[in-house]
Amino acid sequence: MSEENIFERNRAAWNEASGYHQKARNGSLAERFKDPAFTTFNRACDQNLNEKLRQIDFHGKTISHIPCNNGRELLSLMKLGAREAVGFDISDAAILEAEQLTQIAKLNAKFVRTNVLDIDSKYNNSFDFIFISQGSLQWFPDLNDYFSVIARLLKKDGKIIISEIHPFKYFFENGFSFKEQNFDKLTSYFETEPNSYPTGLDYIGNVEYDSSECFWFMHKMSDIITAILHNGIEIEDFDEYQNDMDGTPDPAVEGKFPFSYLITARKK
Ligand SMILES: C[S@@+](CC[C@H](N)C(=O)[O-])C[C@H]1O[C@@H](n2cnc3c(N)ncnc32)[C@H](O)[C@@H]1O
Repeated sequence: MSEENIFERNRAAWNEASGYHQKARNGSLAERFKDPAFTTFNRACDQNLNEKLRQIDFHGKTISHIPCNNGRELLSLMKLGAREAVGFDISDAAILEAEQLTQIAKLNAKFVRTNVLDIDSKYNNSFDFIFISQGSLQWFPDLNDYFSVIARLLKKDGKIIISEIHPFKYFFENGFSFKEQNFDKLTSYFETEPNSYPTGLDYIGNVEYDSSECFWFMHKMSDIITAILHNGIEIEDFDEYQNDMDGTPDPAVEGKFPFSYLITARKK
């Protein structure tokens, strides 16, 4: 299948998932963004991220979140003092929700519906800071393509923070259960073919449904690091954590495996 088809199918699957997410949240985000102090980075697993964010001076800065889903994280970041923000995402429904939340939050943010790989060149060298968060990198077949976009959008000395699910966690995304120990369901760390989520992308309400076909890709930690470095971005900090961003890990393995990581980096 061509990359164009993969992205268009993923767009449809994410539009479909947005409806499930909104149903699960039942208007709670719109309500919470009425409070100027509300931030979405209030989960226990956000502690390490918040520490890294505190080390950055956002005042007067132009920032982005790529991909940004419904804008809740970018709007939360704006409250750290940024002057303006632009979020990019392929999902029509997510961008529409982001625009609605922006109106409610009354912040200087703009949202653009686009494939990340097609972001308009008018945004080149625009951003002092780009945030890349949980569940983003796996949608791109080639991380070199993804980080070449991040590099062209960053200003010189512009920073990125990646707060992501650890590749190790993706071993277990295809139906492996610690209880059953069905090792035939493990995803290989070296898998290069696309994987799918046949029961959908509702990680908010955890409803399972017969999902539109979508494709995600396993990326080794070395793929991530080399794609960053090969695009002129210097890694300043890299930490791996036990925190499972999707909830509490199975007690059988809690504290034993890396489930998330943080990278801080700077465009040279
Ligand atoms: C799990 S979210 C990650 C963002 C955020 N951490 C969150 O949890 O909402 C994944 C997002 O990637 C977007 N996405 C997937 N492929 C994309 C692409 N090629 N270009 C832009 N956005 C894409 C989806 O629409 C979705 O909003």
